[in-house]
Amino acid sequence: MDFTHLLADRTKTMGASAIREILKVVSQPGMVSLAGGIPAPESFPMEIMGELTAKVIDKYASGAFQYDLTEGFPPLRTALVTYLAQKGIQATADEIMIASGSQGVLDAVAKVLIAKGDKIAVEAPTYLGALQAFNPYEPEYVRMDTDDDGLIPESLEQVVQTHKVKFIYLVPTFQNPTGRTIPVARRKRIAEIVQQYEALLIEDDPYSALRYRGENLPPIRTFAPEHVLYISTLSKVFAPGLRIGFYVGPPAISRWMVIVKQGVDLHTNTFSQALAAEYLAGSYLDQQLPKIVNLYRPKQEAMLTALDKYFPNNFMWSKPEGGMFIWAEGPQGIDAEELYWKAIEKKVAFVPGKYFYTQPGEGLATMRLNYTMSDEATIDRAIKTLSEVIVKELR
Ligand SMILES: Cc1ncc(COP(=O)(O)O)c(C=O)c1O
Repeated sequence: MDFTHLLADRTKTMGASAIREILKVVSQPGMVSLAGGIPAPESFPMEIMGELTAKVIDKYASGAFQYDLTEGFPPLRTALVTYLAQKGIQATADEIMIASGSQGVLDAVAKVLIAKGDKIAVEAPTYLGALQAFNPYEPEYVRMDTDDDGLIPESLEQVVQTHKVKFIYLVPTFQNPTGRTIPVARRKRIAEIVQQYEALLIEDDPYSALRYRGENLPPIRTFAPEHVLYISTLSKVFAPGLRIGFYVGPPAISRWMVIVKQGVDLHTNTFSQALAAEYLAGSYLDQQLPKIVNLYRPKQEAMLTALDKYFPNNFMWSKPEGGMFIWAEGPQGIDAEELYWKAIEKKVAFVPGKYFYTQPGEGLATMRLNYTMSDEATIDRAIKTLSEVIVKELR
């Protein structure tokens, strides 16, 4: 029996994910994947998981296995007060909500705010997972221009002047997919614009802790606390499988996000939240974070060095000070998806950048390169192979 006819209209419009189809080959044996966006397993603090588990059982006993508040496990929310204060974000435990990953927050944002046809302003390119969270609610996307310093404030201003946008979605630090970071002066200008136009900004910040060089930057929320819903996660600094995301938002919106979460999963996994609470409160994170940064820094440097060494000089690429991605762009006329299939034959995978755009025909010559999952020598070899493929194609 084919039950396709039972699908809701909105499900049919979502379509199969083209990127999922093309990335199926990435798991072939012998493939070097620069395509993923996942943390290296060596970044997980495996040596303390047993100790943390024992602490959780000792401290919370059956409480760590019981149903809990939809808003989040109170000791985790308390621990996050200090964590967020270090980023300059002032919030009480009551204002901090937990979700199943930042992806869970994005879904709740979409469910609470987006009605069919609503306009959502996104960077071009933007995080694909956010589009996947928003798409089922059938928004229309308004693109905002970016350059090497991320979102261009004038483009944001023009968008909010000409469109009635429901919200603006931004990844200001080490953006996925470009790795770009918005400098402080632009952050302040963006904050002024959202305040002036009484707009709502969703600031998604999974990567700022992964800084390999340079100074930490204040989140945009610090400049416009009433207009920004700030989202972050422990996925990149603890373990993504635990699914711990969190947010601080305007109370009128957070309240509804909690109500919709009740209908989704009642609450995020209590045991995971208890582990996370102990990880943060026991200053384990303070010890682990330098290890993660020291693990990724040489990988990133290896990729930047290899790009300098091998890539044709009509290609440009981002040079982020942290995060998990480098964004490369070739001359007009290059088709990165064609390159992808040629590179796959040589056992190297990356993500063609066009999938991170909301408008067809954009970003055809772009590619997202990830360096967290391979060692330095493999990264060097993979970039060399990729440039050989490109050079052959350019000929
Ligand atoms: C920009 C951005 N937001 C959200 C997420 C989702 O992360 P998680 O749900 O694991 O917190 C990711 C994951 O890669 C991301 O890159």
